[in-house]
Amino acid sequence: MERTTTVISPADVDKQLEYCRAVAGLMAWQPGERPLALVDTYGCQQNEADSERLRGYLEQMGFGFTSDEEQARIIVINTCAIREHAEQRVFGNVGALVHLKRRHPDTLICLCGCMAQQPHVVKKIRDSYRHVDLVFGPHVLWKFPEMVHSLLTRRSRMFLTPDEPGSIAEGIPVVRQDKIRAWVSVMYGCNNFCSYCVVPYVRGRERSRSPEDILAEVRQLAEEGYQDITLLGQNVNSYGKDLDEPMDFADLLEQVNAIPGDFLIRFMTSHPKDATQKLFETMARCEKVAPVLHLPFQAGNDRILKVMNRRHTRAEYLEKIRALRALIPDITLTSDIIVGFPGETTEEFEDTLRVLEEVRFDALFTFIFSPRPGTPAAEMDDPMPREEKLQNFNRLTALQDAISEEKHAAYIGKTVRCLLDGLSDDQRYDLTARTPGNRLVRVVGDPSALGQFRDVKITGANKWSLFGELV
Ligand code: SAH
Ligand code: SF4
Ligand code: F3S
Repeated sequence: MERTTTVISPADVDKQLEYCRAVAGLMAWQPGERPLALVDTYGCQQNEADSERLRGYLEQMGFGFTSDEEQARIIVINTCAIREHAEQRVFGNVGALVHLKRRHPDTLICLCGCMAQQPHVVKKIRDSYRHVDLVFGPHVLWKFPEMVHSLLTRRSRMFLTPDEPGSIAEGIPVVRQDKIRAWVSVMYGCNNFCSYCVVPYVRGRERSRSPEDILAEVRQLAEEGYQDITLLGQNVNSYGKDLDEPMDFADLLEQVNAIPGDFLIRFMTSHPKDATQKLFETMARCEKVAPVLHLPFQAGNDRILKVMNRRHTRAEYLEKIRALRALIPDITLTSDIIVGFPGETTEEFEDTLRVLEEVRFDALFTFIFSPRPGTPAAEMDDPMPREEKLQNFNRLTALQDAISEEKHAAYIGKTVRCLLDGLSDDQRYDLTARTPGNRLVRVVGDPSALGQFRDVKITGANKWSLFGELV
């Protein structure tokens, strides 16, 4: 595959760091005052990872961070376009900022992320949300300091949303949100064009970071003591196809696994059509790779899968699950499902229930189809009334709840090595933890064990989580 990606040179990124210093200089703060920034993130881990880079740049500009918009001198809203509901939330929250802008006209309001890459959104913000100062798409995130600089010097609204295959920029500073878990993007964009999905339009074509850059980042995270590292991409299984020296995701996983340190490796998302026997064997062999796979199948009916342009059948999916379980019998499996795709009948939907019964996933992420402007599915006939879609959706979640509850109950009495990853907000428990398969455990025990891998005895369970005590 030919590289169509713009590779941003180290000199260009250095120039952005100069802009950071220039921005710091432009802001006339009172001595001792530290300006604050608010970064509000919607959507998936890719967006979380992008927000960590926005924070990295903001920190270089001299900002600290706040969650209180009254305190913030710059507000960055990193948006998601995957479903209409996500967009409505953003429009609601951005709309409400009009009052804040009246009180604090100098506060900069910026909107970025996947919504910003959609022409109809840009038009709406331009015409009706005039308090938004800056709109920029994911392809130009690396230029954020330069954009802030020109906002401050030119004092006019800016819209920077070029439609391009996408860029790769290394060396952008990051401020990570967590001290235990970290995201590492291995690739950006998507080439799959599932007929319902907006991601390829807003995130551009697939492009892989070089293995050297990825390995160096993981090495550094391991040295800093990160214990749970997730490799990110919309379709990690097509990693490497665009590299000058092709390598595949399984090879990359093997090399990440060889990095010294006590950490778990996760990855997402995997597309079933590209999940190979080699990947499964690598997962089974690599001791740091968590025994968990998120493998979205979206729908159980072959006709629907075809119109979704998923390019796999139900039988092929089930065969992959069988092959994987033969190698890793206790693998934790999760999936994404769309209910109410245009033209899906209730009979066809029942094929999805059959897949649930056959696979018995540990957890599911379930969605009702949402038409996305510009995607083929948004133009398809969609005769099923919303009521019926909702009924099907409820049948799906009821079935999965029962399965999750049974699967969780089977943990009771077992001792599981878990990563203690947080303090519990529920007073009856001290800590939260994750099993290797990423199930949530609420734990009684000494809070000073936070950040450690420890044996937890599972004493209870419900459909959402497990309960236990430190051994
Ligand atoms: N790249 C990942 C998923 C990205 S989006 C993959 O291919 O699996 C996450 C999930 O959102 C998808 O798996 C799908 O289940 C859901 N989704 C995407 N577009 C949607 C739409 N238009 N309506 C409802 N759900 C959608
Ligand atoms: Fe969207 Fe399909 Fe790409 Fe996933 S693989 S991001 S669902 S187009
Ligand atoms: Fe949303 Fe963009 Fe992720 S559309 S799901 S934030 S890639």
